[in-house]
Amino acid sequence: MADKFLDKVYGTTDAGATRKLYDDWSESYDIEIAENGYQTPARLARAMAQNCRDLNQPLLDYGCGTGLSAGQLQTAGFSTIDGADPSAGMLAQARKTRHFRNLIKLDLSQPLPFDTGDYHAITAIGVISTGAGPASLMDTLMDKLPSGGLFGFSLNDHALEDAEYLAGVARLQDAGHLARAKEYGEHLPKLGLKSMIYVFEKK
Ligand SMILES: C[S@@+](CC[C@H](N)C(=O)[O-])C[C@H]1O[C@@H](n2cnc3c(N)ncnc32)[C@H](O)[C@@H]1O
Repeated sequence: MADKFLDKVYGTTDAGATRKLYDDWSESYDIEIAENGYQTPARLARAMAQNCRDLNQPLLDYGCGTGLSAGQLQTAGFSTIDGADPSAGMLAQARKTRHFRNLIKLDLSQPLPFDTGDYHAITAIGVISTGAGPASLMDTLMDKLPSGGLFGFSLNDHALEDAEYLAGVARLQDAGHLARAKEYGEHLPKLGLKSMIYVFEKK
């Protein structure tokens, strides 16, 4: 039987340990996550599409993992999707899908390898959370969008209990970016976990 990872993922403490966990998880991720009824990608993809004026403009799925979230973005209508992730194992799985125009291997010790305005929309689905991406990603990723661009992300119940992540959302609101969608709903229902999805339009 394949190792289970969902019980370990929220406890990792640094970027190296997180990358190793996702490398080790990459081959069984889709199965384990489907067994637990993962809903957030479909919910956020729909909210992004409802608020996007041009579904053909390039979208970056940041923390794309195996490509599962990009599959939902395609189903929602997005046609030009790049993916970025620090885990080589996850990217190897993503490469097997037909969801991506380009895949970017992230080195988290370096600045992000794309320019402001390269993408009209950025998603971070199941990425900004304890055991994965820090709250500061909300600022960093929003900075990379042009005015009018869309930033969609989710915070699961663990992140919603952490003041640092809530402060990140407050910073986006205080900076004057428009909250286009905010909805609390199912995340991993078999684990009893929910998530808030957000779509912000850059000021
Ligand atoms: C729970 S998976 C979500 C993958 C995909 N978005 C989905 O919904 O299935 C989290 C992903 O974020 C990546 N990740 C973790 N920390 C990150 C960081 N600081 N920046 C970018 N990606 C990160 C992991 O390698 C992993 O592929």
